[in-house]
Amino acid sequence: MLFIGIDLGTSSTKLLLSDEKGNILNTVSNDYPLIFPHPGWAEQEPELWWKACEKGIHELLKGFDASDVAGIGSGGQMHGLVALDADDNVIRPAILWNDGRTYKEVEYLNGVIGKNRLSELTANIAFAGFTAPKILWMKNNEPENFRRISKIMLPKDYINYRLTGVHCCDYSDASGMLLLDVKNRKWSREMLEICSITENQMPKLFESFDVVGTLRPDVAELLGLPKTVKVVAGAGDNAAAAVGTATVGEGKCNISLGTSGTVFISSDHFGVDPNNALHSFAHADGGFHIMGCMLSAASCNKWFCEDILGSRDYAELQEGIGEKNLGRNHVFFLPYLMGERSPINDTNARGTFTGITMDTSRNDMVQAVLEGVSFAIRDSFEVARSLGLRIDRSKICGGGFKSPLWKKIFANVLGIPLDMMKTEQGPGYGAVILAMVGCGLYPDVQSATDELVSVSSTVQPDPELVKLYQERYEQFRQIYPSMKELFSKLS
Ligand code: XUL
Repeated sequence: MLFIGIDLGTSSTKLLLSDEKGNILNTVSNDYPLIFPHPGWAEQEPELWWKACEKGIHELLKGFDASDVAGIGSGGQMHGLVALDADDNVIRPAILWNDGRTYKEVEYLNGVIGKNRLSELTANIAFAGFTAPKILWMKNNEPENFRRISKIMLPKDYINYRLTGVHCCDYSDASGMLLLDVKNRKWSREMLEICSITENQMPKLFESFDVVGTLRPDVAELLGLPKTVKVVAGAGDNAAAAVGTATVGEGKCNISLGTSGTVFISSDHFGVDPNNALHSFAHADGGFHIMGCMLSAASCNKWFCEDILGSRDYAELQEGIGEKNLGRNHVFFLPYLMGERSPINDTNARGTFTGITMDTSRNDMVQAVLEGVSFAIRDSFEVARSLGLRIDRSKICGGGFKSPLWKKIFANVLGIPLDMMKTEQGPGYGAVILAMVGCGLYPDVQSATDELVSVSSTVQPDPELVKLYQERYEQFRQIYPSMKELFSKLS
């Protein structure tokens, strides 16, 4: 038996083929553009996601017996608003998770409906990237489009719809819409009313490992797959990555360093951060999780290396940064290139370099970018610690951790060991595991990850560096509060 995992990312769709023992047989990746129609806005055409999947599945299966494929699972970029009309046509480009246009709607939801009420209804408050404020934005700014909405879905649900014809969503991804009663795993009637939509416009809810259907016959033919292939509901990319790194059950932690950066803490129990700085979402294993998400993480490094320094050779740019430079950088970088979500919830926040002098080198600035992202992740860590959560080690995944230097900086900024998995493809591997559970190979997600996921290497913190980075972190923490007011005037 073969299984396909789809990781529907922000810059590309990555596909993974696995056998029934969880061995990765092949991977392919297809890129697509991100559209920034205005500063702080981010959109994408759902058709491009589908094309990337269609092309990718053909490439993935080259040289393999497609008739052996039994299941497909997916993990997708969260929160993106995909609106379909009565004929299931996409009404407008999807508005993505890192889009900041909804600040007025967020003010209305958090201020007028009130953070306490939102938290009672959904376990979360409004953030600009969440789906509910985007629905209100469409109502306020594109009434014609809003009136045409027949179904609302999230990015990976659109792919599942194209595969099976079923309008579905799983609880982990639905949690990020601000429309789900996370604790009771059902749509919140009151939130739907607040957004002027009805339950008929929402997809049907499933656990991530539930089978939502089999391939539509025409799609099976198009993809060269058997009609019997089962498609599971899948998960938000962070929950899928957590499954892929065995961050399931009680009290495990995963840090993902992709376009966004997240700290994900799994739990068997429902719990809410009393200040709602961290999100309280359902997990793909049937449980729950607490998560902090920064909007620009590895993308800060990509921006600085590619757009500013004009090089794609990240390793070469990091070569000159040695052990002696760590914890001693006089330059600081604020990584808020798209505003920021966790924990500061400020769409006006911006990036800065601080502390530059005549002797500042290119290396200092590259290092400052890596450190700034690590410090900003630590901000979410500190919130989790203040809730009494003990995090004494973490798993890691995502493209940013391909850099040994960045891994080392992270381990020392956070002061904990970081475990890398043998199977590095977090969300794609998690998606395959969900498909295996759906097809009955394992009774539940935990048994599957116990058998399939193991650690390949660990980066240990060095007590001396941890001390140095503690001092740098305390300085870093003073920069944003001193700029906050200016940022709001600049935007
Ligand atoms: C999580 C979030 C991001 C996207 C990126 O809340 O917004 O991690 O899921 O794909």
